[in-house]
Amino acid sequence: MSDYQQFIANVKRKTGIDLALYKEAQMKRRLTSLYEKKGFKNFDEFFRAMNHDQALFHEFLDRMTINVSEFFRNAKRWEVLEKKIIPKLLEKNKRLKVWSAACSTGEEPYTLAIILSKFMPLSQVSVLATDIDDNAMARAKLGIYMERSLQEVPEDVKKKFFVKEGSHYKIIDDIKRTVTFKKHNLLADPFDTNFDLIVCRNVLIYFTEEAKHELYLKFNRALRPGGIFFVGSTEQIFNPAAYGFEVEDTFFYRKM
Ligand SMILES: C[S@@+](CC[C@H](N)C(=O)[O-])C[C@H]1O[C@@H](n2cnc3c(N)ncnc32)[C@H](O)[C@@H]1O
Repeated sequence: MSDYQQFIANVKRKTGIDLALYKEAQMKRRLTSLYEKKGFKNFDEFFRAMNHDQALFHEFLDRMTINVSEFFRNAKRWEVLEKKIIPKLLEKNKRLKVWSAACSTGEEPYTLAIILSKFMPLSQVSVLATDIDDNAMARAKLGIYMERSLQEVPEDVKKKFFVKEGSHYKIIDDIKRTVTFKKHNLLADPFDTNFDLIVCRNVLIYFTEEAKHELYLKFNRALRPGGIFFVGSTEQIFNPAAYGFEVEDTFFYRKM
């Protein structure tokens, strides 16, 4: 077994995270640059050290989860969600069950809540937001962002849903309250069901083809018939019918 394979086995035993389901070249490169920076010679040394050193373990987690996010990321797609997808979903159900999977630092679930608030009172808006990374979700719960996370946010939305605090922006409590954050590993934990809308963007690209196939099927099962699966702008599904989906719009798939 190679040094990296042994590391994968050790990490899986320690954390339940299966690095074998992430694209190898990319993940290995990211982690190698971290252990080299820390002065270790190989994965074995690195694992032994992080087994005793909580701070190093967190640096490892931080390096393997890539947390970049943004409000209204790829704004045109969110426009399609608002103008076309949500109105159609609301024709069937007045209350929507919505999941932001791999939500990182919260920009995505809060964007969802902001859009949903245009259709219903905030008391009826409810978004489940999950991620494998506790640190990212702790920041999400704080809800404080740098200006660059808001570059796609329209001015009126900025005024209505954020409070400027020095050089930062804080999401208002009324929006915050609508989002429930939970730790969840997409590659290991069971999925809830009966969702009208699942947003899972910019994480599937890190997974192996096999892991992605499995996940498309699981997302399909987690949706109601007619429910929508919204993916990232590099994450087109090449054969949606194989997973029980049809194309609703670019990067939106409807459960058949
Ligand atoms: C690049 S961010 C995407 C954030 C947001 N969805 C967006 O598009 O802006 C990727 C997120 O996936 C999370 N992630 C990585 N592996 C995961 C897994 N197995 N289960 C759940 N989340 C995972 C990371 O912690 C990170 O927060």
